[in-house]
Amino acid sequence: MVQEANDFVSIKEASKWASEYLGKHVTTSNISYLIQYGRIEKHESKGNTVISLNELSQYYKRYTGSRKEEWRQQLGHELNWSLSFDQYKESETTKHVHRLHPYKGKFIPQLVEYFLDDHTDDFKKSVYFNRGDIILDPFVGSGTTLVQSNELGIHAIGIDISSFNVMISGCKTRKYNIDIVENEVKRINEKLNEFLACSKTDEFEKILLKELSDFNTKYFPVPEYKYKVRIGEVDEKKYGRAKEIEFLPIYNSLVEKYGIKLAHENPRSFMDTWFIQQIRNEIDFVRNEISKIRDTSTRKLLAVTLSRTIRSCRATTHADLATLNKPITTTYYCRKHGKICKPLFSIKKWWNTYSKDTIKRIAQFDMLRTDTKQVCITGDSKSINIIDQVRTIDPDFANLIMHKRINGIFSSPPYVGLIDYHEQHAYAYDTFGFARNDDLEIGPMFKGQGPEARQSYIEGISDVLLNCKKYLIDGYSVFLVANDKYNIYPAIAERAGMVIVDKFLRPVLNRTEKDKGAYSEIIFHLKEKN
Ligand SMILES: C[S@@+](CC[C@H](N)C(=O)[O-])C[C@H]1O[C@@H](n2cnc3c(N)ncnc32)[C@H](O)[C@@H]1O
Repeated sequence: MVQEANDFVSIKEASKWASEYLGKHVTTSNISYLIQYGRIEKHESKGNTVISLNELSQYYKRYTGSRKEEWRQQLGHELNWSLSFDQYKESETTKHVHRLHPYKGKFIPQLVEYFLDDHTDDFKKSVYFNRGDIILDPFVGSGTTLVQSNELGIHAIGIDISSFNVMISGCKTRKYNIDIVENEVKRINEKLNEFLACSKTDEFEKILLKELSDFNTKYFPVPEYKYKVRIGEVDEKKYGRAKEIEFLPIYNSLVEKYGIKLAHENPRSFMDTWFIQQIRNEIDFVRNEISKIRDTSTRKLLAVTLSRTIRSCRATTHADLATLNKPITTTYYCRKHGKICKPLFSIKKWWNTYSKDTIKRIAQFDMLRTDTKQVCITGDSKSINIIDQVRTIDPDFANLIMHKRINGIFSSPPYVGLIDYHEQHAYAYDTFGFARNDDLEIGPMFKGQGPEARQSYIEGISDVLLNCKKYLIDGYSVFLVANDKYNIYPAIAERAGMVIVDKFLRPVLNRTEKDKGAYSEIIFHLKEKN
């Protein structure tokens, strides 16, 4: 039985209590996080940190318990809460290669698994796919469908209009010689260290960090400061801004002393705008070292790792990483960390972290892989000839597709006017010089959500279905994950000669967007109209 929440306990006891209370694993770091971010108060008893279980349970009730019911009332009672995958830890929803590179609009692997595997439940009453089948994802994005197909012993083809997305997907599904990858990372690290030894940035950063640490300890004590902000004792905006201004002269004098070059004088590209000069020099250096790698798979994998590094080194604040506001090249008050933070001056830390992480992730996936085929193609799904294109990469797979045909589609099309898929990785297009096909994207943000954009979306998605249908078996199943706020999927199905035979309503809990209100996606199940 869950203990009464009426006493003070240690962090360890609180994590045990919360695990029972919530029915999922809550770690001591999760509890410390709540203290650090001022969600619950830190108390002391005989010199030890304790927290109030009462306060903790109030917190969970506010943020978790009532949410399920509220959302059902707002979104309808057919909402399938188990499709929120709330019970999974972040490390599970970003398992192995799924986190090789960030990607806005990615679905979680457990959702793909749910529809592709052979289980049934109260909502999913039949098994749709079997081992040895072939699946198509005409909007493959960062490759979630392909990776999960591989895990489940299913062959898969992915298509995307953005060549960088195809590169990410290809890197996730390819098999590697891990020794080669490790040796190349080691070689590049040695070279990078030699390169950095000639720069003054290291010394500049050490001194800056020391100044920041003294300043932050004095003016933003942990966890008292955040707690005071939360209970309204400190006006965060005013206080943060005042301290930001107070620190700037220290920063400026160090920049001058060490001759650090910050903004580009005449920005003309994404890289000019969003990266300080030292970072760009290091990026160019590592990119050049990567280009010397002879093993193509390793070369592409480390290019994706560099791209992940570049993304984390943009001159922006910690709070604005997902949605860039304006370039920040000075120290600033950081709302996320509740203190004065600094921009990055070297890629070294992130390159080291991500290259190690990449090796760990490909090794993890290697243990789970099945011997199935996954092929990724750059192209417009409205018109691409799938067999011809697959043949240029893997003729045996092209023959298998011709002979067996594709069993169905599992995909999440772009939403109307929400994301510019090329633009989200603009730094990668600038760095690697890929051709861009922005005009062929269906439903890009730059075209908006007006009636014209919606009509062109209906035509775009149904053209994709009409083109892909040619390669499907009779009796195929198509699953499309969408947020149909304009109720246009019935028109899409009609135009594609299909019918919606089922709908699964899934709550989306962990959105990266600032708006955390009730939100659901629909997984449409379509079949050929008789
Ligand atoms: C919602 S995302 C897919 C995300 C994917 N399910 C994942 O987990 O990463 C939609 C994708 O459709 C692609 N796309 C847009 N228009 C396309 C077109 N005409 N042909 C092929 N792909 C297109 C975009 O580039 C984007 O990567």
